[in-house]
Amino acid sequence: MMTRLLGSTGPRVSAIGLGCMGMSDLYGPADESEGIATVRAALDAGVTLLDTGDYYGMGHNEMLLRDALKGRARDNAVLSVKFGALRDARGNWTGIDGRPASVKNFLAYTLRRLGTEYVDIYRPGRVDPAVPIEETVGAIAEMIKAGYVRHVGLSEAGAETLRRAHAVHPVADLQIEYSLFSRGVESTILPACRELGVGITAYGVLSRGLLSGHWSKERVLPPNDFRKYAPRFSAANVERNLALVETLRGIAASKGVTVAQLAIAWVLARDNGFVPLVGARTRERLAEALGALELQLSADDRSRIEAAVPPGAAAGERYATQLMATLDSERRS
Ligand SMILES: NC(=O)c1ccc[n+]([C@@H]2O[C@H](COP(=O)([O-])OP(=O)(O)OC[C@H]3O[C@@H](n4cnc5c(N)ncnc54)[C@H](OP(=O)(O)O)[C@@H]3O)[C@@H](O)[C@H]2O)c1
Repeated sequence: MMTRLLGSTGPRVSAIGLGCMGMSDLYGPADESEGIATVRAALDAGVTLLDTGDYYGMGHNEMLLRDALKGRARDNAVLSVKFGALRDARGNWTGIDGRPASVKNFLAYTLRRLGTEYVDIYRPGRVDPAVPIEETVGAIAEMIKAGYVRHVGLSEAGAETLRRAHAVHPVADLQIEYSLFSRGVESTILPACRELGVGITAYGVLSRGLLSGHWSKERVLPPNDFRKYAPRFSAANVERNLALVETLRGIAASKGVTVAQLAIAWVLARDNGFVPLVGARTRERLAEALGALELQLSADDRSRIEAAVPPGAAAGERYATQLMATLDSERRS
């Protein structure tokens, strides 16, 4: 397995990480036993980075990971855990909590659910606008000193927040959306990460399935599927976005690979500070995603890909308006 360092202070991880969210939540019905088998297949293939959040399925995703990790050497996995998003019993999103006492409380429950003594990378899923980032990160730093956490991470934070956090404790990686459809980080966030030595775990590399080559506009989404409300999947935008995918399909075919493999390989080739997280929920999808590691893109390949899908080509924002407003990374100051 190809590996990459997560920033200058973070752990060495597999060049592709497995994002486990869709095994519990947000992407329609999922098969739990197939989710567990997918995590185990990833570990067997040499994937070390496993990403979850305590709010993915309100604890379900962490318990699924615990089951998948049973009998495995704990040190072979790098567990990246997000906290801070609040939900009610129906799964509705009710707020963000980055207060220090809450951080310690969330972590205690996470350790129990995961059945582990430490989390490798612990991060607020969203920056809490009511709590200075120094306080949230300060609480994680305390948990590092106490031995319960190894590294600090952030998620969807902008450059200024990243600098403030990094001044309190080195940040191993920023988790943020990045793909041929979402290149917003390139202007200020990526340069700040490079300057500070912060790695990037890129999610949405397949634009939540839209950019995978497997999406169809006929697909009917259940009410709790994130994509039902995501602008890029709306009736007004999906056709244009799928037309872009078709241009990529031609390039992928000329390289003997699939669209998903091309899209993942493009992120890998873009900067060696990027570690794509793929949201495979089945062993079949995982095998396809890991196939991207075999693909070497030349400068000419990358130019063809970027000409087919130039920055800003995707129709629609990456989140619905009210969710965009919760992203520190999108804050215009
Ligand atoms: N920090 C944050 O704010 C944040 C936000 C979202 C996600 N994440 C993390 O990122 C992880 C990945 O999620 P994502 O939204 O970024 O996923 P993604 O990889 O962009 O999309 C995943 C979806 O693509 C479809 N797909 C088709 N072919 C695939 C293939 N070969 N490999 C993988 N998926 C394929 C899958 O749908 P089918 O299963 O239906 O085929 C899956 O539901 C999550 O699990 C989570 O850990 C973080």
